[in-house]
This record gives sequence, structure tokens and C-alpha cells, in this order.
Amino acid sequence: MKKITVINSSFRKNGNTDHLAANFIKGAKENGDEVNLINLKDIRLNFCHGCLACEKLKKCVQNDDINSLLDDIQNSDILVFASPIYYYEMSGQLKTFLDRMNPLYYRENKFKYVYALFACANGNEDSMDRAINGIKGFVECFSGVTFKGSVNAAGFTSIGEIKDSHYLQDAYDLGKNI
Ligand SMILES: Cc1cc2nc3c(=O)[nH]c(=O)nc-3n(C[C@H](O)[C@H](O)[C@H](O)COP(=O)(O)O)c2cc1C
Repeated sequence: MKKITVINSSFRKNGNTDHLAANFIKGAKENGDEVNLINLKDIRLNFCHGCLACEKLKKCVQNDDINSLLDDIQNSDILVFASPIYYYEMSGQLKTFLDRMNPLYYRENKFKYVYALFACANGNEDSMDRAINGIKGFVECFSGVTFKGSVNAAGFTSIGEIKDSHYLQDAYDLGKNI
């Protein structure tokens, strides 16, 4: 059994990213894996202040929800970042979360693999390239961690438009076979 942490950065309830995350989780749970879901819309998350106090403390000095989440992330086997594409990039809230994970840079982490789930409006899967690159930049800073792949759901604008597409099956299959 693997422990998988899914970080869903979409604030749009029942939106396209939510559907991707839900299908991935369904597959992973059916596979017997443990899933820890963090919905960024439900937590208190400030911007990183860049003080680097975390270098010594291995936690953050800010009094929001990040410290309560770090142990679970550290002890996961796999991390999955889910994001809508905003201006050809990951959402600002996901980038903020990556920055706030900086205390983990100074810890021994269990996670070895990172995946991503993206949704965007235009029909071109290349629209995810910059977001993938951003996540690869994060991954590169953690030794022994590899970016393994993503579901790039292209062509969905309104809430739940993704429902009848093959991308939900792709997300489910990824979870099931991860
Ligand atoms: C601020 C903002 C910027 C966006 N930028 C892009 C973009 O650059 N390319 C694109 O294809 N879609 C863009 N979109 C559309 C969303 O990616 C799309 O609607 C996606 O399905 C939203 O996912 P959600 O339902 O999880 O919120 C943007 C949406 C917003 C709100």
C-alpha cells in the first residue's frame, strides 16, 4: 500500500480539476492505496515571506495551516499536484503551496515520485508545458525525486464540462496503476 498526497489547487467546486482529482483518487483507493487529499480552498495559506527561518526550524514561522500538513506530505510515497491552467501556468495558489513546502527542503522526505493533473480551456495539451516545467523546477530541488507524468485535460472551460471526456478515465487509470 502506498501513501499518496493529492494537492488540489482549484477553488472552483465541482470544476474540471476537482473531477480529475476525484477520478484519480477513486482509482488509487481501488488499488488499495491510502490517499491524503489537501484542498487548498479549505486551508489557510499565506504567501511565503522568504525569511528562510525554515532552514533551521524545519517548519514555518507563520501561523496558518501549513505546518499541520508537512508531516503527512513528508511521509507520503507519491505527491500529485492538481491545477487549473491560469495564463499558461499552474495556478498561483499551487505555486504558493510549493513555496510554502520549503521546510521540507531541509528534511528527509519519503516521496520519490510526483505527478500532476491539469485542466485548461483551449484544446491544446501543450498549454500545460509551462506548468509542467514549474513543477519540474520544484522536483529538481529535491534529490532522488522524479516527475513521472501528468494528465493534461485540454478543452474545458465551464464547471464540469470535462465530465464526458476520456481524461477522467485517464486520471482514474493513473490512480489505479500508480
Ligand atoms: C485567471 C484564469 C486564467 C486562465 N488562463 C487560461 C489559459 O492560459 N489557458 C487556458 O486554456 N485556459 C485558461 N483558463 C481557463 C481554465 O484553465 C479552465 O476553465 C479550467 O477548466 C478551469 O479549471 P477548474 O474548473 O478546476 O477551475 C483560465 C482561467 C482563469 C480563471
